[in-house]
Amino acid sequence: MSEKFGIDMHVKRDDLTGADLTGNKIRKLEFLLADGLANRCDTVITCGAAQSNHARATAIAAARLGLGVRLLLRTRDPANPPPLAGNTLLDRLVGAEIVWLTFEEYGRRAEMLAAEAESLRNSGKTPYVIPEGGSNALGAWGYVRAVEELALDLTILPGAENHPTTIIHATGSGGTTAGLILGVKLMGLNARVVGINVCNDRDYFLRVIGDICQTAIDTYQLDLPFSRERDIEIVDGYVGSGYGKAGSKELSLIREVARSEGIILDPVYTGKAFYGMSQELERNPEVFGDRIVFIHTGGLFGLFPMAEQMAPLL
Ligand SMILES: Cc1ncc(COP(=O)(O)O)c(C=O)c1O
Repeated sequence: MSEKFGIDMHVKRDDLTGADLTGNKIRKLEFLLADGLANRCDTVITCGAAQSNHARATAIAAARLGLGVRLLLRTRDPANPPPLAGNTLLDRLVGAEIVWLTFEEYGRRAEMLAAEAESLRNSGKTPYVIPEGGSNALGAWGYVRAVEELALDLTILPGAENHPTTIIHATGSGGTTAGLILGVKLMGLNARVVGINVCNDRDYFLRVIGDICQTAIDTYQLDLPFSRERDIEIVDGYVGSGYGKAGSKELSLIREVARSEGIILDPVYTGKAFYGMSQELERNPEVFGDRIVFIHTGGLFGLFPMAEQMAPLL
């Protein structure tokens, strides 16, 4: 891929954060579940799309900690939920309780999460609510720590550690981007953080990521200059036909990367972000400078429910 695009391209393998825990979410959960335990919770509640990687990672991590899990997942018709596959198969395997929500209910997810928490409290439980994607100021520390690690990684690459680097990744609920932005500032890394959104649009993420960064700066009294317009870089235009839907161009690129690199991208996040990055590079090979670190944020299990769509390409 470096040869193809004429750029020094590296991949930070956050898909290798664990076999079952694969992906970016465990970095946030490290902080969020510690907070849950500090608050003596016995049940974790969170939400997401039907094939949410965050929900699956939460369910598995909570099972390891001996905590109960309730997942609020969205689907078109809660009376006829999708068959267990990929992430939902693992959710149920580790004993997570799934509550299916309509898209309309999911639009009111903060309220729905609070109602579930209240009902658990009424039955004598101590719930801990994790927002969509684990994306809040506390969860963002996971990617601040990741930048600390990345700064060390960069020392073993050719060129100086502080050689300008563009960190590219998929943006879904904003917490990863927020953590990376804060981490780069805190570490003084000579890096540009670029998120490629797989849902919603640039304006939405300027607001969501801006709020997470600002809350973190205020809550943890970080002495950092921060401006939404200057510091948040979202490359919009690669959502395609919608969140969770991949077309033949993205799927073909997933095949190409799998065959040329032996790296498996997913159709919902990393495949779309990699496709967006490749399109931008084809348009202007210099757009990201001369060194890229693409963060592979996981998502492997999201590939399996797409087997039928993928089969004609294989
Ligand atoms: C595999 C994968 N990559 C990237 C993301 C995006 O991360 P974030 O939600 O922090 O924006 C997610 C979750 O949304 C994910 O599951």
